[in-house]
Amino acid sequence: MTPALIRASSPAAGVTELEYTSLGKTGLRVSRVGLGTWQFSDAWGVTRYEDAKAVVARALEVGVNLFDTAMVYGRGMSEEFLGRALRELGARRDEVVVATKIPGDYLHPDDIPRAVEASLKRLGLESVDLMQVHWPPCWHNFPTCRYMRALERLVELGKIGHLGLSDYPVELAEAARYCLARHDVEVIQVRYNLAERMAEEEHLPYAEENGMSLLAWSPLAKGAILGKYTLEEAERIQDLRARDPLFRPSNYRQLLRLAEAIKAVAERYGKTPAQVALNWLITASSTVIPIPGARSPRQVEENAGAAGWRLSFSDWRLLDEASRGLRLSYLPG
Ligand SMILES: NC(=O)c1ccc[n+]([C@@H]2O[C@H](COP(=O)([O-])OP(=O)(O)OC[C@H]3O[C@@H](n4cnc5c(N)ncnc54)[C@H](OP(=O)(O)O)[C@@H]3O)[C@@H](O)[C@H]2O)c1
Repeated sequence: MTPALIRASSPAAGVTELEYTSLGKTGLRVSRVGLGTWQFSDAWGVTRYEDAKAVVARALEVGVNLFDTAMVYGRGMSEEFLGRALRELGARRDEVVVATKIPGDYLHPDDIPRAVEASLKRLGLESVDLMQVHWPPCWHNFPTCRYMRALERLVELGKIGHLGLSDYPVELAEAARYCLARHDVEVIQVRYNLAERMAEEEHLPYAEENGMSLLAWSPLAKGAILGKYTLEEAERIQDLRARDPLFRPSNYRQLLRLAEAIKAVAERYGKTPAQVALNWLITASSTVIPIPGARSPRQVEENAGAAGWRLSFSDWRLLDEASRGLRLSYLPG
C-alpha cells in the first residue's frame, strides 16, 4: 500500500468529530477509542469479508483511525481483511495507525523477520505502525534481549514503526525495554474494563510514568457488563465466550448488577451502556485507549461516541464503587 492510495476519512453527517490523543511518545495522532479486529475470525464470527469491510468503513467515517489486529486472529484472516478494507476504502496511509501483534511462539530471532514479512504481506503494507509482542514466550526459552533486539532491527530497517508489549508483567516489560538501544516501548496492551481492573495496580501507573499508552483490551468485558444478555441467554452463547469465566453464572449474575448501575448512569446522560463503560476508562486516565471489538457498523459508531465527553466525578465514583463490590473467580467450575 502506498501513501498516495489512501484518502482522508471524514466524519459522516450527524456524527460528532472524535477526540484524538497521542500514541505513547510516537507523535502519532490516534482516536481516543480504537477498533479491535479480533472479531474478524472464526472465534467471533465475522468471517465474510464484506461484513468486516462495512465495520472498517464505518470506523473511518466516524473518525476512528487506530486499528488493532494480530497475526493469530483468524490465523491471518483479521490482518488480511483489515488491510484489504483499508486499501479498498482508500484510507490515507498517514491517517490510519495499524497495530498488529507477533505471538510469543514466533519470537525465535531467526523467525521474526519472516513472521513480520508475512504479516505485512497479509496487511498489504510496506511497514506497520505498531508491532506488539502479543504475549511473552513461555515454552521456548527465547532470550528477551535476542528477540527485542531483532524487533528493534526491523524498526531500524523501516518495517516496524514502533514497538509495544501485550500481556507482559511490568517486571518483564522493564527487562525488555532495557534490551533496546535506540527505541522504546510505546504501548502496553492489557485486559482492562470496569469489571476487571487489575491493570490499575501496576500496568497503568507504569504506563503513565513512562509516557506510554495503555491499550485496554476487552474494554467491554466482551459484552458481559452491558446487560445485553439475560443469564439464560449468556449460558447459551456459542462463540468463544462459552468458555469465558465472565459468562459463568456465578460471575455473570454479579455482572448483571453492575450492568444495572451502568445502565442507570447511561440513561442520565442519554448515552448507551457501552459508551458509559468505555468513557469510564478514559475519564480517569489520559493514558488509556480502549480498543473495543465490533461485529457491526452500528457498534463501531456507538463505541466512537464514548469519547468527546466525560462522566461527572460523582457518576465515575458511583461505577467505581459498584465494580469494587464484585467477587469474580477464574477457577473452573
Ligand atoms: N492483547 C490481547 O491479548 C488481546 C486479548 C483480547 C482482545 N484483544 C483486542 O481487544 C479487542 C477488544 O476485545 P474483545 O473483543 O475481547 O472484547 P470487547 O471489546 O470487550 O467486546 C467486544 C464485543 O462486545 C460486543 N459489543 C461491541 N460493541 C458493542 C456495543 N456498542 N453495544 C453492545 N455490544 C457491543 C460485541 O459482541 P456481541 O455483539 O456479539 O455481543 C463485540 O464482539 C479485540 O478485538 C482485540 O483487538 C487483545
